[in-house]
Amino acid sequence: MEEKVEFVDIQITDEMIDRAVDVLESGRLVKGPECESLENEFAAACGTQHAIGVSNGTAALLLAMKALGIEQGDQVFAPAHTYFATVSPVLELGAEPVFVDIDPDRYTMDPDQLRAAIEAAHSPTAVAVTHMHGQPTEMDPILDIVNEYELDLIEDSAQAHLAEYNGDTVGSLGDVGCFSFYPTKNMTVGGDGGMITTDNDEIAATARALRNHGRDKSGSHTHLGLNYRLDEVKAAIGREQLRALPEWTTARRTAADQYDARLASVEEITTPSTFENSKHVYHHYPVQVPENERDGLREYLDQNNIGTGIHYEVAVHEHPAVQDRTTEADAPTAESLCRRTVSLPMHPMLTESEIEYVCSTIKKYFQ
Ligand SMILES: Cc1ncc(COP(=O)(O)O)c(C=O)c1O
Repeated sequence: MEEKVEFVDIQITDEMIDRAVDVLESGRLVKGPECESLENEFAAACGTQHAIGVSNGTAALLLAMKALGIEQGDQVFAPAHTYFATVSPVLELGAEPVFVDIDPDRYTMDPDQLRAAIEAAHSPTAVAVTHMHGQPTEMDPILDIVNEYELDLIEDSAQAHLAEYNGDTVGSLGDVGCFSFYPTKNMTVGGDGGMITTDNDEIAATARALRNHGRDKSGSHTHLGLNYRLDEVKAAIGREQLRALPEWTTARRTAADQYDARLASVEEITTPSTFENSKHVYHHYPVQVPENERDGLREYLDQNNIGTGIHYEVAVHEHPAVQDRTTEADAPTAESLCRRTVSLPMHPMLTESEIEYVCSTIKKYFQ
């Protein structure tokens, strides 16, 4: 292949640029109708009562946790296989993340291990699941557990826009959902951005105040809030992106099916699992390979002009900023996946011939 097979391909269409220019020319750059419209459209897409636009996905998690009242001394359970930003807000609020190992087929929090961790905990307060790589977490047992122990449930949906579990869209299953519009995500706003989703009026009102200097509708600073707003240019781009998202999601699923079929015969490769009750949105297409082959395969793909990624090199609890601020995690599956997975090119513009080339190159490597 002459052209590089890109790992991601960010779509900014002429229409999106036109919408951005319209907003710039309007002079209404913050706190305007575009953000409000994006919020309404995003809430409709998720099936929630409220959506609150914020400056990025990390801010969405921080404000959601703050709105839930998470504070110093609380324990928040999080999967050991996630991005740092699922737990950095927990630490920022002075609370303690407790890491739970994952189910290696879903790459998401293992409900049995969550129950065990809660039973051993001193101040269980909330659970933050991550719908990792675009695969929904097994939510039914987790919902049973949070109801039984009366814990709050946060869905880190940063990688899973429009993913479904038992017919419900992620971000509508827990108390609050948090999304990222970082440029490589399934949809972006042409830069950083994020969204909070919830059915709870009080959480919505608090999060809305917190993102805008803690001001309520009357202008009174009722909360100690900072500025985490999503601006109008980005919201306008986000609305166009959201319109395209269902089609892009279908294209990602088609690409995943093509990878699945072509890699099924490669003994050394484990492709992502699919489940009857879940609709994956393939933010990433991670494959598991033998540990001693991972770096060699990656290098070989790179030499053959194929972009890849690793999600992630190090388990979240092993990072220095986290390590000293949590009790020791027992998460061998998450740790081992960090050494065994490689993410193959995945984006809506990927062609069948590119997928064929990636898969035949992988086969050549293992021959
Ligand atoms: C699982 C997960 N959570 C949170 C975030 C944070 O989002 P952002 O980069 O928009 O702050 C990301 C993306 O970077 C993510 O992948």
